[in-house]
Amino acid sequence: MMHQRHGVFFGETQKLLALALHDAGQTDREIADAIPTSVNNIIHWRKDAGLPENLPNGQAAPAPAPVKRYVESRPRASDFGFEGKPKAARPAAPLRDAASITPEEAQIAFAAPVQPQGENALEIGTFSGRTVSLDLEELLTTRLLVQGNSGSGKSHLLRKIIEESTGIVQQIIIDPEGDFVGLGETFGHTIIHAHDHKVSKLAEIAMRARQHRGSVVLNLEAYDAEQQMECVGAFIGGLFDAPREHWLPALVFVDEAQLFAPANDGGEDREIRKGVLLAMTNLMCRGRKRGLAGILATQRLAKLHKNVAAEASNFLMGRTFLDIDIKRAGDLLGLVPKDVERIRDLKRGEFLGLGPAIARRPVQVAVGTVMTSGTNGAQGLVPLPATSAEDMQSALLGDAEDEQAAPALRIVK
Ligand SMILES: Nc1ncnc2c1ncn2[C@@H]1O[C@H](COP(=O)(O)OP(=O)(O)O)[C@@H](O)[C@H]1O
Ligand SMILES: [Mg+2]
Repeated sequence: MMHQRHGVFFGETQKLLALALHDAGQTDREIADAIPTSVNNIIHWRKDAGLPENLPNGQAAPAPAPVKRYVESRPRASDFGFEGKPKAARPAAPLRDAASITPEEAQIAFAAPVQPQGENALEIGTFSGRTVSLDLEELLTTRLLVQGNSGSGKSHLLRKIIEESTGIVQQIIIDPEGDFVGLGETFGHTIIHAHDHKVSKLAEIAMRARQHRGSVVLNLEAYDAEQQMECVGAFIGGLFDAPREHWLPALVFVDEAQLFAPANDGGEDREIRKGVLLAMTNLMCRGRKRGLAGILATQRLAKLHKNVAAEASNFLMGRTFLDIDIKRAGDLLGLVPKDVERIRDLKRGEFLGLGPAIARRPVQVAVGTVMTSGTNGAQGLVPLPATSAEDMQSALLGDAEDEQAAPALRIVK
């Protein structure tokens, strides 16, 4: 795993970074926080360079400039001694290779992404050519919530995190769509097909998974919503109830988490719904002591029960279309309006990440490629058959012969 460069900025480099951040649209206050230095210094440097102030609403921010290299400014009066002569032996070069700072680099420095080392670094993707990682140890104690509309790349992102952490930490994957069963073949995960077992047996299997620290996929694809809820309630209950000597670290991935912690009543059996919601709440609120760290993916925050959503300290926000969802995500991340607009512009596979296991300020990440693939991923366009209208009609409605052969319908009471 690759390690990121450490950013230590002093003096002239600090100033160059400030100017680059200004170019990236940051306000004086934000720049002062990021470097860090006083707002007064920033105002001074900005005025010195003849740059306008970036207002917090982003309106005064300059249009994204083409990638620009920064060079040292010409000597100014203050660089000279009181007799007007240059100070003796003043080092001309700044401490860092200042000419290499681009607005993108400044932006990533501003976001202050975590810089985990070794096995702790789960590389999930890149921003502007730089690796963005999750800090595994931090993730285990602070949990993660992924949000994005259908097709935004949530399952792909979960798969990436799974591939990066496989063999390092126990993984438990709740898979409502059978997307992850391929992990069995590639990495040796035990695949539990929920429909092959009684509900009580699922709780038992979950306890054994804790005992033996085996990575498992709970495949629920054969079941309807209520059956899925019942199985997941029992399974997570089993993980949670494992005896204390088996409380070792495990990541619990829940794809389409709104199915198991719905914000609203979907008409399912009340007891089943209560049971699964309790299991999910326990996982997120009380799982930490037991070593369980929830990683949830959901299409819409509004669909996910707020007690469950509130317990994640890390967020990865993907492509989202509805204004109300964008606003909610922005509120959750505490984004200024300018950054909220970034959610709208995300493409498939791009996420805005924030939290103790990711970065101190929102950092954009393009999720990298994965080794394994889903078994039932959406297909691209498939050409329609060239069937004539008559043939299609007879194929769908059945011809006279078939109709006669078909058994008469019976009403069964
Ligand atoms: N970062 C990515 N790079 C390449 N393909 C991606 C990426 N993210 C998603 N995809 C592809 O886009 C499609 C939808 O992604 P998926 O993860 O299933 O979305 P979601 O789970 O949010 O509905 C899939 O075919 C997936 O392979
Ligand atoms: Mg998905």
